[in-house]
Amino acid sequence: MNPTLQVIENRRSIRVYDPTPLSEEEQTAILHAAMRAPTAGAMMLYTIIEVTEQSTKERLAVTCDHQPFIATAPYLLLFLADYQRWMDLYAAAGCEQRAAELGIPVRPPAEGDLVLALMDALITAQTAVIAAESLGIGSCYIGDIVENWETHQALFDLPRYTFPAALVCFGRPAKPPTNPLVPRFERKFIVHKDRYQRFSPAELDEMCLPWGQRSFEPRNYPNRAKNTIQANYIRKFTADFSVEMNRSVGEMLKNWTIK
Ligand SMILES: Cc1cc2nc3c(=O)[nH]c(=O)nc-3n(C[C@H](O)[C@H](O)[C@H](O)COP(=O)(O)O)c2cc1C
Repeated sequence: MNPTLQVIENRRSIRVYDPTPLSEEEQTAILHAAMRAPTAGAMMLYTIIEVTEQSTKERLAVTCDHQPFIATAPYLLLFLADYQRWMDLYAAAGCEQRAAELGIPVRPPAEGDLVLALMDALITAQTAVIAAESLGIGSCYIGDIVENWETHQALFDLPRYTFPAALVCFGRPAKPPTNPLVPRFERKFIVHKDRYQRFSPAELDEMCLPWGQRSFEPRNYPNRAKNTIQANYIRKFTADFSVEMNRSVGEMLKNWTIK
């Protein structure tokens, strides 16, 4: 395995940090690598906010589904999908007036523009994660940043055509990780040839084997589930944070797409 693949192979989410701050050089290296990520049309449809205020970190530790470790991250980056900067640039360059003169219909950013900007922001975030890993700096994504959209909008002064794509905690591991890497499903379930493939219940059961348990084997869980997949469904898919996530993203989409 070459050193790049080795870094990717050994990465794992890190949630307990050595409190030593990242040096300026480390921060610069991570941000520089992130900004070298591929970007749609070279437009860089994202903004990265360095979250430095401790009070903001502590607020996020609550608003992102009560995860106290967020407040302990020595370096915290918020990756926004961002069409606002380009809409401001288009306005400054007189684009809409010129389009009107030419009979080209003008339009606000729509759903497709949001998805493209989300792609840009997430590719950038993952590039930062791998760059950090190569420097011995661990990381952890916080998906819950898409919850409580109104609160996060106010907290970061987010204009209309921006949306949090990912929050990522960075820091050196407090101690060298010893637990095994989190397993992945076998490749045959994830990589399909030419066409999408759906799986039978028996195949899906086999898919879950790396989790160490037959999916449908009866067992009692504290959340009253009767098998491991039911436990996941109740703990994740139907949980309060999932309900809030869907409410929050729904509101954001309404705001983004309202004419
Ligand atoms: C989109 C996304 C959102 C995530 N959100 C959280 C989170 O809110 N809290 C957390 O502790 N880990 C979060 N994670 C980390 C995953 O739990 C982790 O990647 C997964 O369990 C696999 O473990 P590994 O990264 O160590 O391989 C998130 C990861 C991704 C990609």
